[in-house]
Amino acid sequence: MDSLDDAGVYKLSDDLALIQTVDFFTPIVDDPYDFGQISAANALSDVYAMGGKPLTAMNIVCFPTKKLDISILQEILKGGIDKMREAGVVLIGGHSVDDPELKYGLSVTGTIHPDKIIATSGAKPGDKLVLTKPLGTGILSTAIKAGVTSQQIISEVTMCMSALNRDASELMQGTEVHACTDITGFGLIGHTFNIAKESLVHVQIYSTELPMLSDIQKFADMSMLPGGLHRNSEFYSKFVRFSDKVPQYIKDVVFDPQTSGGLLIALPPQNAKWLLSELSRKVNTRAAIVGEVLSGTPGITIE
Ligand code: CO
Ligand code: CO
Ligand code: CO
Repeated sequence: MDSLDDAGVYKLSDDLALIQTVDFFTPIVDDPYDFGQISAANALSDVYAMGGKPLTAMNIVCFPTKKLDISILQEILKGGIDKMREAGVVLIGGHSVDDPELKYGLSVTGTIHPDKIIATSGAKPGDKLVLTKPLGTGILSTAIKAGVTSQQIISEVTMCMSALNRDASELMQGTEVHACTDITGFGLIGHTFNIAKESLVHVQIYSTELPMLSDIQKFADMSMLPGGLHRNSEFYSKFVRFSDKVPQYIKDVVFDPQTSGGLLIALPPQNAKWLLSELSRKVNTRAAIVGEVLSGTPGITIE
């Protein structure tokens, strides 16, 4: 409970541990099927971030039966089940309540070898940081709600958020990895800081290497910034130093809360290079080496 890890781990025997996590939230896209897919991918991600294998899941549903037609819920659940099927995860139950605000998510149970847990605490000076998905889902969701985006942007961000982190997780398990987490509500900075704090290291982020969804600069300049971005900035700014050359929109993007974001993986430079080439060959994500681990006080420098 004290560590800043993505999921809870409970050792059953010398070679088997349970890994458990729960996540649910309000809709971030209009299409109910897409929302189901995204929420399931997001809930499964915490197991993948620790190098585990999700096995079973249970639905968590809050639904306003008096306000919305039940067919909307059916579409959400169908999106969730299809995503679980893609992940090889079996739905074994769930619980629903009548609630004025719609929410959907999963509790997920998986397994992991107790010696193969990839925690946030193992990053070492000299490691490179690989990020496996582009940033900007919070800014784009805000722009979508404001009705200022094209259908193409909606499809791009929906595809990004509904993509499983499974393949990236399986690939990283094929090499020596020191630490990993997934980028979600606290944004790139918040989750990177968790690694810095748990590993007792300093992190340098390369601002020019950050993969981003389309038109992020345009929408950041239009102030399409979600409330969570400001909260992240207020909380984490004291741990971050920006060099003078970092443009304003990057200073926004690094605090942008992500839904179902990518994995952030700390590993030796030659392993990072290997992982990146495997990712681009097999997963077709927009992965990139976005920084490196330095010795020093826990914190982040953005160059
Ligand atoms: Co997480
Ligand atoms: Co989570
Ligand atoms: Co029940």
